Amino acid sequence: MALLEARELSKSFGALTAVNAVNLRIEPGTLHSIIGPNGAGKTTLFNLLTGRFAPSAGRILFDGRDITGTRAHRIAHLGLARSFQRTNVFPAFTLLDNVWVAAFACSRSWRGLLWRRTESYAGVSAQARQALNDVGLIAKQSELAREISHGEQRQLELAIALAAAPRVLLLDEPAAGLSPEETRRMVALVRALKGRYTIVLIEHKMDIIMSVSDRISVMHFGSLIAEGTPAEIQRNPEVRRAYLGGMAA
Ligand SMILES: Nc1ncnc2c1ncn2[C@@H]1O[C@H](COP(=O)(O)OP(=O)(O)OP(=O)(O)O)[C@@H](O)[C@H]1O
Ligand SMILES: [Mg+2]
Repeated sequence: MALLEARELSKSFGALTAVNAVNLRIEPGTLHSIIGPNGAGKTTLFNLLTGRFAPSAGRILFDGRDITGTRAHRIAHLGLARSFQRTNVFPAFTLLDNVWVAAFACSRSWRGLLWRRTESYAGVSAQARQALNDVGLIAKQSELAREISHGEQRQLELAIALAAAPRVLLLDEPAAGLSPEETRRMVALVRALKGRYTIVLIEHKMDIIMSVSDRISVMHFGSLIAEGTPAEIQRNPEVRRAYLGGMAA
């Protein structure tokens, strides 16, 4: 059974149909990439899946449960984490505090905060440290978020998503704006997370997509026009026409 599924999912902004009757099945444990030209509707699809926008039509199922219309914070609690929402980074907090807040916000019984004994925070702290360790930032846990490099900030954003112990990780262009060296580190990181998490990845850099993906879905003008393995996508004539151009040759 798919862990995350979209059925005939659509979103219109006035006359523009940004996402048009998309059917998508994300199998557990896979890395499934969404590619397509600028404005194809990829980010809008993430906004629908994470509850940021309500769909105009269609359904979203998570682990077999219909979550259509569920609010974003509830969906996050169910285990769908989205990376790179910059607003989640507090520049004047240390890296550990940034990740701790994320781990704490998703811990089960935060409503019982006032009655909790301090040792029950140990689990939250351990989870936060684990997330920093997973992205290679544990040595900088006491530095302030505003003082680390741009590439490290993106790693921190990934740690914040991981701290919530997600079941599905949605990554929207994690390598955007990174230097070649930072990109290399980010790709290695995503590769290391593969298998441990179900990952949905939006990315423009074709070499990254082709080397890390189990499956690729191609979006064009809001619709999915193809789905398959990297090799299948590379040979698909419609995809080459719509998107890859000479790159896949
Ligand atoms: N909140 C919004 N209001 C109106 N139009 C929107 C909104 N969000 C997205 N759009 C439009 O929907 C279309 C799809 O945008 P989206 O950001 O999903 O594309 P994308 O595939 O992520 O593109 P990119 O690769 O450039 O990030 C675009 O035409 C965009 O202008
Ligand atoms: Mg986008």
